[in-house]
Amino acid sequence: MLDFRAMDENESLARRYARILAQLEPLLGGTGNKTARMATVAALLQHKLPHFFWTGFYILDRGELTVGPYQGTLACLVLAKNQGVCWAAVNRRETVVVPDVHKFPGHIACDSRSRSEIVVPLFDGRREVWAVLDVDSRSPDAFTEVDREWLEKITQLI
Ligand code: SME
Repeated sequence: MLDFRAMDENESLARRYARILAQLEPLLGGTGNKTARMATVAALLQHKLPHFFWTGFYILDRGELTVGPYQGTLACLVLAKNQGVCWAAVNRRETVVVPDVHKFPGHIACDSRSRSEIVVPLFDGRREVWAVLDVDSRSPDAFTEVDREWLEKITQLI
């Protein structure tokens, strides 16, 4: 049976993302500096979307994932190699959605209040992953296909 409430929620979330994207395009046109662009994306997403508890970037730097611009509580500076959700997104070269972080083997808990997570890889011109966008929520199962679709679009702007 179709769940009309879920359909409505997804539609209104999609409308919100569409507004965020429309706001980001002219803002990001102001500079080619990737740090400034990542900082702007993190700030806007974190403040416009209530299910976002921590929003930020980890950047591949000499084989390590090191924290970049973020909004939220204090983050781990460097993530243990090939462990956790961010490394899974780098290694699989695709978005990883984790409905329950406690069930993800090797999940790295920077803040124990995080319950679900989505991580989107960022690709350079040679299709190499150079960073990830990581979003945590305090609610279990907070991220849907709508989040995946729009966050993949937004990361392409950086
Ligand atoms: N949970 C992530 C680590 C980063 S924090 O969520 C900010 C992971 O397992 O890779």
